[in-house]
Amino acid sequence: MKSLHEFRNFKKEQRKISMVTCYDASFGRIVEASPIDMVLVGDSVAMVLHGFDSTIHATPEMMMAHTAAVARTVKSKPIIGDMPFMSFREGTTKALEVAASLLRAGAHAVKLEGVKGHEDVVEHLVDSGIPVMGHLGLTPQSVHQLGGHKVQGRLETEAQRILNDAKTLEKLGCFSLVLECVPESLGKMISEEIGIPTIGIGAGRYVDGQVLVLNDMLGAQPDFKPKFLKTYSELHKVTLEALKQYDQEVKEKTFPSEKEVYL
Ligand code: KIV
Repeated sequence: MKSLHEFRNFKKEQRKISMVTCYDASFGRIVEASPIDMVLVGDSVAMVLHGFDSTIHATPEMMMAHTAAVARTVKSKPIIGDMPFMSFREGTTKALEVAASLLRAGAHAVKLEGVKGHEDVVEHLVDSGIPVMGHLGLTPQSVHQLGGHKVQGRLETEAQRILNDAKTLEKLGCFSLVLECVPESLGKMISEEIGIPTIGIGAGRYVDGQVLVLNDMLGAQPDFKPKFLKTYSELHKVTLEALKQYDQEVKEKTFPSEKEVYL
């Protein structure tokens, strides 16, 4: 298993880091067989698997259950567990409890969004021996404050604030930083100005690594087409075709055939 600190060397050596989300043991088995570097049990699970319209519905219990499921099949890659909505805004004790539970469930690090107002939490987690990944730019847990899932940092003042926050997170001891939906120029500037690796999603080509939501990059939701997303498979189409064929075979009595029955 790669140590989280090795990723700093990736940055120095200009080797890109690949990360995907994963929420269950079944996809975990496939991710484990792949060369992907890091796995994120993202709070996007609330939307992707539970069908909610935002990540604010993720709870510590939900994150723990999915982290534990992923950890049962992903054995050779660092697993990052997302700290859900508000779990790090109620002081260091509550945050430490949630982070410790995610680590007990099998995560090797936690990720949390933003920094203003919870600098003490980030520092406390790091000082307690829990590696922390930051997350800036579009922070989906603040979707209502941001007015939707929109590109962040287009204005000079906003870009400067995100850059300053990135520097603060580095100083507080984060081992890496997710940058979501920011202009490529800002992703580049931040990546050049901080020493920890940046992992982008919609942050352009010059960040130190990329992350995508597994189900999205596999094409599970063909109607979801943000500009940053590239689909590498046609999961919706392939699965639908398989279901249609199964349905037809059941109804025309060709499944099960002699091959699939106990004689
Ligand atoms: O929850 C998630 O999937 C994330 C990624 C979009 C980085 O935070």
